[in-house]
Amino acid sequence: MGCPSIPAIVLAAVIVLIIGGSFGMYMANLYKTVSAAKAAPPADSDQGKRQLRWGRPGILRRQLAERLGFGGLAIAAALGGAVLWSDLGRIDKALLSLAKADAARLSPGLPEDLEALDAEARSAVEDRLKAFITAGSANPDGRFAVASIYDLHHRLVADSVAPDRVEAADVLSFPRHRAIGGEKAWHTARLVSGQLYLLVATPLYRPDGKQNGWFEGIYHLPRPILSRIVVVELRTTMLVIVAVLATTALLYPVISGLNHGLFTRSQALLQANLGTLEALGSAIAKRDSDTNSHNYRVALIAVRLAEAAGLQRQQVRALIKGAFLHDLGKLAIPDAVLLKPARLDEAEFAVMKTHVAHGLDIVNHLDWLADAADVVGCHHEWYDGSGYPRGLKGEEIPLIARIFSIADVFDALTSRRPYKVPFPLDKAVDLLEQGRGTHFDPRLLDKLLELAPRLYADLAGREDAGLESELHAVTQAYFAETVFG
Ligand SMILES: [Fe+2]
Repeated sequence: MGCPSIPAIVLAAVIVLIIGGSFGMYMANLYKTVSAAKAAPPADSDQGKRQLRWGRPGILRRQLAERLGFGGLAIAAALGGAVLWSDLGRIDKALLSLAKADAARLSPGLPEDLEALDAEARSAVEDRLKAFITAGSANPDGRFAVASIYDLHHRLVADSVAPDRVEAADVLSFPRHRAIGGEKAWHTARLVSGQLYLLVATPLYRPDGKQNGWFEGIYHLPRPILSRIVVVELRTTMLVIVAVLATTALLYPVISGLNHGLFTRSQALLQANLGTLEALGSAIAKRDSDTNSHNYRVALIAVRLAEAAGLQRQQVRALIKGAFLHDLGKLAIPDAVLLKPARLDEAEFAVMKTHVAHGLDIVNHLDWLADAADVVGCHHEWYDGSGYPRGLKGEEIPLIARIFSIADVFDALTSRRPYKVPFPLDKAVDLLEQGRGTHFDPRLLDKLLELAPRLYADLAGREDAGLESELHAVTQAYFAETVFG
């Protein structure tokens, strides 16, 4: 197909620019949003708190608008392009038919045999061609500006150019004399000074239906006709695009409303899950004669260490769950063992170790808690492989379990426990160093030691109510995005 390519390229370029620009803006926006989410600020930072209070629902609405807008633009471009292409194909066929019908008017006045013409007969053919060109000049809708006749051996018999063609030089630069052959018509198109020209090659037939030669001509479509076609096509294409975009715009409040309802219910479900998590953590602490404060401090220390170690937010969420639930299995340990004030004997210690398996058994039955399994199952593993229950070594121990392990001991050392007073920071650091490479991952220990002065100043031994609200804010910030997606 030749003709559609010219206006199609112009219109397609406009559409591609519009869509390309919108797509580029969309991608840039999306990249910014995703980058912001990945490089999430620490939850207890001002930015994190602000995002928690105001940012997330706004991001959700913006993402919906962006995705709907992009989808609408893509559909509009696809439909508009399809309509345009289909229409231009139809116009192409119509123009070709017009040119072929015009060319067919030549045949009745031509000799049946174009192969061996004497000078007189050739002159008659030239006159016929010239008359054909001249007669067409009066047609305001289009006419042949150049016409040639060839015999079946592709030899030029006659050639004629309309005398009033000021752009004849450009027009004649068409790749002529190459399309002739076989019995099928052929054409291509070109814009010259804003006017459309079609190079048409079509067989010539004798009255008995046998082919006796070829006609080749350059058909001129005047600017007003071309403009009318372009305007009609533009209007149709734009109507399709506007209709699709309007439909998309109407869909936005509907989907946004549905989303809001879904968001509200999801948020309520999240709060229920987090409440359950905190209640379970509290139940374990009470069963173990421990305090909630220890759980809160360990969770906060672990989160800060995880942030310093560059963990993904999903891993931090699993770590928070694990921090609350790490000793969940102690609910199944008999009081005689769990609460024994003296040192456990070997058999009792074997029973105590089963709290890991009991804990795993519980969390693995609940989808929402399943990602806590790494901490629950491995919080007693040691870096050198001497821990339990599986004796995992080095990086075989899940990263969040290694982080939790350090946080748990740091808090135990720096806070008051039934069997000890809180140690000062330097003594706690010395004791942690003794576990380097045996109990603790050395690289994570380095990270903790960098944070240690700040952690000690902020959290060591704290029992106040502010601790709970601080952890609550951190937890909300990390889990809120599971509702917003
Ligand atoms: Fe434990």
